[in-house]
Amino acid sequence: MIMTQREKGFYISTYGCQMNVNDSDRMATLLEMADYSPVQTPEEASLIIINSCSIREKPVHKVYSEVGTFRKLKEKNPNLKIGVGGCVGQQEKEKLIKNQPIIDFVFGTDTIDSLPQILMDLENPPEGRSQKIVRAQFEHRQPYHVETLVTNPGISTFVNITKGCDNFCTFCVVPYTRGREKSRPLKHIMSDVQTLIKRGVKEVTLLGQNVNSYESDCGADLADLMRQLAQQTSIERIRFTTSHPKDFDQKLVDVMYASQPKVCEYIHLPFQSGNSNILERMNRGYTREQYLEKIAMIKKAIPNVVLSTDIIVGFPGETESDFQDTLSLVKEVGFETIFAFKYSPRPNTKAAKFEDQVDEGVKSERLNRLFEMHDEIAFELVKRYEGQTLKVLVEKADTLMEGPTIKLTGRSTQNKLVHFLGAREWVGSTVPVTITKASPAVFRGEVPATFAGGLN
Ligand code: 5AD
Ligand code: SF4
Repeated sequence: MIMTQREKGFYISTYGCQMNVNDSDRMATLLEMADYSPVQTPEEASLIIINSCSIREKPVHKVYSEVGTFRKLKEKNPNLKIGVGGCVGQQEKEKLIKNQPIIDFVFGTDTIDSLPQILMDLENPPEGRSQKIVRAQFEHRQPYHVETLVTNPGISTFVNITKGCDNFCTFCVVPYTRGREKSRPLKHIMSDVQTLIKRGVKEVTLLGQNVNSYESDCGADLADLMRQLAQQTSIERIRFTTSHPKDFDQKLVDVMYASQPKVCEYIHLPFQSGNSNILERMNRGYTREQYLEKIAMIKKAIPNVVLSTDIIVGFPGETESDFQDTLSLVKEVGFETIFAFKYSPRPNTKAAKFEDQVDEGVKSERLNRLFEMHDEIAFELVKRYEGQTLKVLVEKADTLMEGPTIKLTGRSTQNKLVHFLGAREWVGSTVPVTITKASPAVFRGEVPATFAGGLN
């Protein structure tokens, strides 16, 4: 099929974390407000944006290889504009255009809202100025005011509550790519969520690099924010990510418990390493014992809690015995889901300069062992859901199927992805689903006949 380029058609290619996905939604909305429309393939676009995260090494390479694949399109359509945004734009700035001259513009994580202006400036370059634009400065002095901008927010959407990070974990590039930590005023978040509810949103995930250090201008913390959202809005579900163990406190756990079922019983609490010496070298601000104490506090207050975590293997200086501490922590806590990564040295970070870097082969081998061990326990852990009836918020219906019973997908309060059969009208509702098959990645289930009203 031959695709023709659409005037003012944009295509955004996104890699990375939820924060990046959320930024891409914002870019799309800003572009639509500036009369651009989304297209399905890069071939149809007159504007291509690559929005990539740089938290681990690969995404930076990916940007360069992706730009390379767009080269042919640019040869065919010299009017095609190519931009790079997000963390990679913030980190690499002018370097990107120097290395890949087919890139027309670069913008950063704090300059997303100037995207329409950048495009106007590209069309009408000020006299004597170059046609290339790099706008990636941090707006340090500006307060953090970002209303959620999503054209189609769907059933579940992200709401930024903090940006940036001041923790400076020694492995992490985020303080350099997203700048100093700032919080949105509580009043703004409340009215944002009210607007989203009117647009059909049932679930919000409060988003930030370290949501536990949220502090509104009125002094409210994350627990206060969640309590107010639960009590003063009709939002059906509230989630939050990412949490930092050192700031996760009793008040938050108590509010989570008291606000159930609106606040979901799922917590993503990255521990990174199970060894206290490594944690110190990571500048994480807690020991293995303190992390376990937090977990005990959480489990005591919320007995039905479901936990997931992030782990780094092969951090500089990590010995086999340190790695064994990571394996044992995964078992001891019983994480149902883990996100594990090989340590990757990042620009500007302290750990990149540590001399005792771990061999790549050793990192890969440790990562494999970690996943193998986790697979064994995860299948066991999720078996307990078989036969249980979970409350599933239906997010999607199969668009190709017709008839009274079609494939539906939703998430349980425990953040489990569940596939089952039901009616298209259930999208946006919470329905009971009895789990028939539970694997770590996805559950299958069926709606009890009493609820389905004769559907199955
Ligand atoms: N190398 C490997 N993993 C990293 N992460 C952050 N920085 C690095 C790095 N330099 C992981 C951490 C973090 C997750 C989002 O990415 O586990 O929690
Ligand atoms: Fe990075 Fe640490 Fe901040 Fe998380 S808390 S974003 S790992 S510096």
